[in-house]
Amino acid sequence: MRIGIVTAGGDCPGINAAIRGVGKTAILEYGMEVIGISSGFLGLINEEYVQLDEGILSGILTLGGTILGTSRENPFKKSSQFNAVDKPKLIRKHYQELGLDALVCIGGNGTQRTAAQLSEAGLNIIGIPKTIDNDVWGTDITFGFDSALWIATEAIDRLHTTANSHKRIMVIEVMGHHAGWLALYSGMAGGGDVILLPEIDFDINLVAKCLKKRAVNKKPYSIVVVAEGIPTPKGIRAGTYVSERIRELTGLETRETILGYIQRGGTPSPMDRVLATRYGAHAVELIARKKFGEMVSLKGDSITSMPLSEVGGKLRLVPSDHPLIMKARKMDICFGKDSC
Ligand code: F6P
Repeated sequence: MRIGIVTAGGDCPGINAAIRGVGKTAILEYGMEVIGISSGFLGLINEEYVQLDEGILSGILTLGGTILGTSRENPFKKSSQFNAVDKPKLIRKHYQELGLDALVCIGGNGTQRTAAQLSEAGLNIIGIPKTIDNDVWGTDITFGFDSALWIATEAIDRLHTTANSHKRIMVIEVMGHHAGWLALYSGMAGGGDVILLPEIDFDINLVAKCLKKRAVNKKPYSIVVVAEGIPTPKGIRAGTYVSERIRELTGLETRETILGYIQRGGTPSPMDRVLATRYGAHAVELIARKKFGEMVSLKGDSITSMPLSEVGGKLRLVPSDHPLIMKARKMDICFGKDSC
């Protein structure tokens, strides 16, 4: 068999581990040929490929980013760059000309939606979920999340000492446009006092009340962790907005940190390397069994798969009654809603 691998959407740590898992299992266990598609779905439109052999797959396990490159090109969305081009038709043509028997699509929600559409269009597709946001529906966890969690937690840890020295309120904005998994987990791991998620409507007055109460109770400083996707006035970053409003409402000194792309870069954590490798190997096993149109997923401790038609780009959001939130509330951690 001849299979292709495409990495699409925002990068994250662990993609190369997944490419290696796919490539080595395909070549060494099944004697397949493996073609890497460059720059996301753009590579399939522009015919930019590279043959992946054992040499290319060596030494990439610990490497961040993606050796294939990525893009946010959505073949099912019209774009000025490709004006009148029927992109899905072109992709089907190039897939056939390449002689592919299957295509592995490594990506987040957008990519899994595209994967489902390509599968519907008749291509043999397997999806592998990745994103630091951990918000792909149909899997307990995406690789990339654990690495980003380490980075965000370390950043929060470092804020504690400077916050304590200056008796300040430190606001840190972490990634997560739609889902607050990273804010919730890094906030809990880093000892955040206030955690604001896109899924929970917050009242800034309640946040201010909570922080004032801490100051009255002789807590010398506070840590506020906010997801980038919380609602703010247009054009104002979440961290900046929350920091400014807290300063106005409490009169306490605040500082903000926007963690940004540091969360997405660098070497994957050991857990992400293992998860990505397991996903990659399982994707090839599905191809060998000709079980196409599936996204590999983690359920509990087991690697399994879900029909792409069911996943279809759906988001997995943090439920407001998530067990971690319920426990946190009992410890007086403020989510900007209900009580403080
Ligand atoms: O990878 C997911 C994510 O990190 C989001 O949390 C973030 O908002 C987005 O990607 C930004 O990525 P880009 O600037 O590459 O589009």
